[in-house]
Amino acid sequence: MSIPADALHAAAQQHGTPLYVYDAAELDASVDRVRAAFSDARVYYAMKANPNLSILRRLHAQDVGFECVSAGEIARAAHIGATGEHLIVNGPAKSPAEYALGAQLGATFIIDREEEVALLPPASRALIRVNPALNVSTHDHLATGAADSKFGVTPEQAPRIISALRAAGHTALGLHVHIGSAIRDAHDFTAAFARLNDLRPHTGPLPVLDTGGGWGIGADLPGIAREAHATAATFGARLWVEPGRSLVATAGTLLTRVVGTKTTGRPFALLDAGMTELLRPMLYGAQHPVTPLWHREGTSQWDLAGPACESGDLLGRDVTLPTPHPGDLLAIHEAGAYGAAMSSNYLTRPRPPELLWERDQWTVIRQRETPQDIWRMEESGE
Ligand code: LLP
Repeated sequence: MSIPADALHAAAQQHGTPLYVYDAAELDASVDRVRAAFSDARVYYAMKANPNLSILRRLHAQDVGFECVSAGEIARAAHIGATGEHLIVNGPAKSPAEYALGAQLGATFIIDREEEVALLPPASRALIRVNPALNVSTHDHLATGAADSKFGVTPEQAPRIISALRAAGHTALGLHVHIGSAIRDAHDFTAAFARLNDLRPHTGPLPVLDTGGGWGIGADLPGIAREAHATAATFGARLWVEPGRSLVATAGTLLTRVVGTKTTGRPFALLDAGMTELLRPMLYGAQHPVTPLWHREGTSQWDLAGPACESGDLLGRDVTLPTPHPGDLLAIHEAGAYGAAMSSNYLTRPRPPELLWERDQWTVIRQRETPQDIWRMEESGE
């Protein structure tokens, strides 16, 4: 993130806090990093990471496709003009509307259970998600390829599903695997790809291998890509990937102001942002790097607490800061993925605005909500 501090101060001054800001140059650099590592692989952005229309349009303009997991996400893709080869529809419990919308747009479906063969619209293209039954080095809530997770089909079921798809007049495009999110240890991917390689004698060659996303910030993308390509080659397949975090995380920052300080058993800096704006620390114990945008002599350690009446409403523990005063501005980094996307209206807190920094200028890409926006649907007939 290379937005100058004075631009951050100006944005906070003009638009108020909490506030999400994104650096367009870093968004583009993220796409470049993924493309450099994965060369000719087809890239589908897992839009759950950040579905802001301006971000989707920017990625669409760079020929990135979209992985959608709800009717709402499919509608977003359609709204910005993405169709056909640019769409994957995924999810463990797809609704009839999601099949219908996906088919209308010509999307590829990811099959997550055997029963879906009968639910697919006629002549669909489908990938089969394999659950490799592996324990992965990430938070339990972020692991999706473990034996006890709800995702995918067992390796034994996969060849049978390929036959069933063909018999039903669908195109069995290939296999899909996504073992979890925020994974830093490339060995986890090696293990998952090995499970796919083991399946090759039972499936025959296939046109596509989709290895999902899940790459943590700082993960060895070229290393993961090398192994993904090698596995694709064993199937004679073209590689597809579905990064979410890697395309948007480092471009996004949450700006929040210090409301005050207090000391109970621990020293707290109280912030105007918390779990409603950034849920990841509370839900996954995620640690986001923080930069204080003020200078004062002497530093000490502070817990960062949000305004919610919930003891878990903390954005950080033992964060080293110069003594915070009310009004000081704090930048919480790596918040572009699953930050704004998972913000909520709990406590009737309007979601923050989102701003894009490009060529030394700010553009509002989402306005701040109002309390009236939040209760509008409760006032029938208004
Ligand atoms: N493909 C599939 C099938 C997925 O389920 C996901 C994410 C992705 C791709 C993208 O994964 P990524 O590259 O972003 O790790 N809310 C959590 C992350 C949940 C991810 C769910 N699936 C968080 O804040 O860390």
